[in-house]
Amino acid sequence: MKLWLGLCLALLWVELQPGSCQQVKRRKDAGENRIRPGGKRAKVRPAKPKDGGGKSQNLLTQVLDKGRFLRLGPVTTLAPGGSMELRCKGNSIGWSYPTYLDTFNDSRLSVKPSDKYGQLVLTSPSAADTGRYSCWVVVCDGSECERDHERTYVSYVYFTDKDNLFVPSAIHVEIVYLRPDRPAVVPCRVTDPRAEVSLHREVPPEEIPANGTQVTYDPTRGFVLQKPSPEHQGVFYCKAVLKGTPQISTKYQLLYVEVPRGPPFVGLEASPESVRGGDDVNVTCSVLGEPEADVSFTWTYPGQGHRPAHTHTSWRLVNRGMSHTTRLSQSVLTLEDMETIDFGNYVCKAKNRDGETIVTTDIVSR
Ligand SMILES: *[C@@H]1O[C@H](CO)[C@@H](O)[C@H](O)[C@H]1NC(C)=O
Ligand SMILES: *[C@@H]1O[C@H](CO)[C@@H](O)[C@H](O)[C@H]1NC(C)=O
Ligand SMILES: *[C@@H]1O[C@H](CO)[C@@H](O)[C@H](O)[C@H]1NC(C)=O
Repeated sequence: MKLWLGLCLALLWVELQPGSCQQVKRRKDAGENRIRPGGKRAKVRPAKPKDGGGKSQNLLTQVLDKGRFLRLGPVTTLAPGGSMELRCKGNSIGWSYPTYLDTFNDSRLSVKPSDKYGQLVLTSPSAADTGRYSCWVVVCDGSECERDHERTYVSYVYFTDKDNLFVPSAIHVEIVYLRPDRPAVVPCRVTDPRAEVSLHREVPPEEIPANGTQVTYDPTRGFVLQKPSPEHQGVFYCKAVLKGTPQISTKYQLLYVEVPRGPPFVGLEASPESVRGGDDVNVTCSVLGEPEADVSFTWTYPGQGHRPAHTHTSWRLVNRGMSHTTRLSQSVLTLEDMETIDFGNYVCKAKNRDGETIVTTDIVSR
């Protein structure tokens, strides 16, 4: 149990430290020979000096007018309007772009392959399209294809808009969960990297200074709280200034969550507790967990397939005391007019991304 917990924490730690992983990788790039993780197609190359100290050159290019190309750097600043055409060399190219464009199934975006390159066109880009655009070479071995991580190219593109210093959000009040074991991000991203941004609490009104240790600002992510605690709860907003009047972001409701990660904690109960033939019964399977953790339920019961029964699955957020928020997910199995065949063992299997838990209850005739 302890070992398992330790492993989870270790995995979590790795997952939460993209920055430090990259640093390790970069250090390796610069020094020793590189060996691919997993040993597959392992190659030992002589260390060679790289331009600019980064990884290989960015092969993500922007097509300018008159057939000129601009090789993009890690950060690109563009004026909105017109259209943006990106190309990436290779006969099989994968793309990623702000998820917002998929969520709204945006017809302004088109991604087309060709023999020699992949093409991404975004017409009428606006401040909301600010984000990470990335392409990579897809390598196939028979029918199995995968992304070549060494040939993945990224540019963070800002679409500047002086009326929208913050990347517009469709949500009026966003919820940010604070967890004791990982940094939290208040995602007020800007559309111009030159904007000066500050973080403010609404009540009592105060500015939370970004001092480079506990609180930092990254224009591509927002404010990062390194060690969230219950004191960081409340309603916050960001303020940006770039020549002229300051602008205010949407509001962020910060909620503190203290639920360890792992397979779901499940409770199962029948109501009423004591049943007779002809009664109606609800069997409720409940899981308390992290607010964003989806839970799926599977039922096994005596009359399955022979008797009508229906299940209703739902979830809601529950405040437990001042500083904790958890998600209560429930599946209710309803049986009407109990018959002999319905008595026996009811099994609920609840599954989340970390595992599954099985609980049973026996319904006996009274
Ligand atoms: C998204 O757009 C495509 C093409 O316009 C259309 O075929 C598809 O049904 C749309 N999907 C949704 C979920 O709106
Ligand atoms: C940064 O701010 C945090 C809390 O606001 C404080 O605990 C910490 O001491 C500060 N660090 C520096 C270097 O000022
Ligand atoms: C079962 O749940 C439904 C919906 O909540 C409720 O209306 C009904 O009274 C419950 N029945 C029993 C026997 O608890």
